[in-house]
Amino acid sequence: MTQHDLIVIGAGPGGYVAAIRGAQLGLNVACVEKEPALGGTCLRVGCIPSKALLESSELFAEASGKGLSEHGMVIGSVKLDLAKMLARKDSVVKGLTQGVAGLFKKNKITRYQGMARMLGGGKVSVETKDGPQELEAENIIIATGSKVATLPGVELDGDRIGASIEALDYATVPKHLVVIGAGYIGLELGSVWKRLGSKVTVVEYLDRILPGMDSEVAKAAQKILEKQGLEFRLGAKVKSAKLKGKTKCVVEIDAQDAIECDRVLLAVGRKPNTDGLGLEAAGIALDERGRVPVGDHFETSVRGVYAIGDVIRGPMLAHKAEEEGVACVEYIVTGYGHVNYDAIPGVAYTHPEIASVGKTEEQLKEAGIEYRKGKFPFLANGRAKALNQTDGFVKILADKETDRVLGVHIIGPRAGDLIAEAAVAIELGASSEDIARTSHAHPTLAEVVKEAAFAVDGRAIHI
Ligand code: NAI
Repeated sequence: MTQHDLIVIGAGPGGYVAAIRGAQLGLNVACVEKEPALGGTCLRVGCIPSKALLESSELFAEASGKGLSEHGMVIGSVKLDLAKMLARKDSVVKGLTQGVAGLFKKNKITRYQGMARMLGGGKVSVETKDGPQELEAENIIIATGSKVATLPGVELDGDRIGASIEALDYATVPKHLVVIGAGYIGLELGSVWKRLGSKVTVVEYLDRILPGMDSEVAKAAQKILEKQGLEFRLGAKVKSAKLKGKTKCVVEIDAQDAIECDRVLLAVGRKPNTDGLGLEAAGIALDERGRVPVGDHFETSVRGVYAIGDVIRGPMLAHKAEEEGVACVEYIVTGYGHVNYDAIPGVAYTHPEIASVGKTEEQLKEAGIEYRKGKFPFLANGRAKALNQTDGFVKILADKETDRVLGVHIIGPRAGDLIAEAAVAIELGASSEDIARTSHAHPTLAEVVKEAAFAVDGRAIHI
């Protein structure tokens, strides 16, 4: 039996950050991860490889479409070396996962590779390649993340009918890709393959894309993505997706024509991953959605056992898991740790990007909160014009009486970076007047945020 102060199960963004914070606070930390590489879904097969492909495919689309010629560059025919593009993506992933291993070393975190199973009473067994190993600690953090949610009738074969992992590695560009689900994964990976030459049809159950995002922004996003060539079938309930012969697949949809295609990407969400964890032995029951129930400080029903990230309630986002990892460990060590869920941004890395923090207009209306709205388009911004990326706008929602910023929604160039300012504003309880009176460098895209703040009071300057 090896003794530690803290055992973290899972080395994704939630788990590895919790492990490092624990070590910084002086704990003797162990982190158990079943995969050989650290970093979890996000680094290995999620956020990072998809962003690498989004960048590469965007450059390819710019070079082969009219993007660069509008800048005055005459380029001959552009060829795709898909194998090289995928290899670059893999090397980005390798560098970052090795980086996490380096951080573990530096922080003297003991790493165990293998499946962890909780035995109860602070004990954890790890199925390592050299046989089972038993660990014990006063505190355990479950950070086992999530796995692909399946859909009845959709027969995943790990190749032509697959999920995001397969879609990060298609060896050839599909002629026709059908994406099931118009959420983050569907729109990002759908965009990648559209830019590389696929016909892409996105089939969505609801009558809108990006549920959860502000609907005005989602509508604008749909228009822009349609202009880029993505096809949407909304209000479409998928009955089945099956292989047809050696090279085709068929997607059947309730009351609509079936679609024949080469590949299917299932992206209808993810579900908590608690497989083989021994929760029963530890005395922890899951909630109705398969999540580990936790209190305000991430403590489960069992003293000394905590859970963070995708395996608990809240949005399944890497940075949300990181915040929880830090707060959870600080709570364990100092008795205080807090996450402000109103200030967690969400970003879809399409082109342009779509970003959001705080309340949507629909949420404010539903809660009966009176608000003022300021909106400013990128079209009226000098830097956006210079970039030749003028689609989109910034929208700020502020409390009608106090002017406190309640929500910020952006569709436009670098929205994912611009939203950070809005998250700080919400975290610090700023008013739209605070943003409007803060100097923003000229000429930058961030001026659109400042102008939207002016617009809350009906006094935007450049429109
Ligand atoms: P999602 O929850 O973002 O979107 C799933 C979509 O599928 C929704 O639009 C939903 O209405 C639709 N859907 C559900 N059932 C359906 C059905 N039977 N037929 C057709 N459509 C159906 O889930 P997604 O895109 O799979 O992503 C999984 C998780 O990963 C999300 O929680 C997301 O937050 C996270 N993620 C975040 C990214 C980011 O922050 N940029 C990137 C990729 C994933």
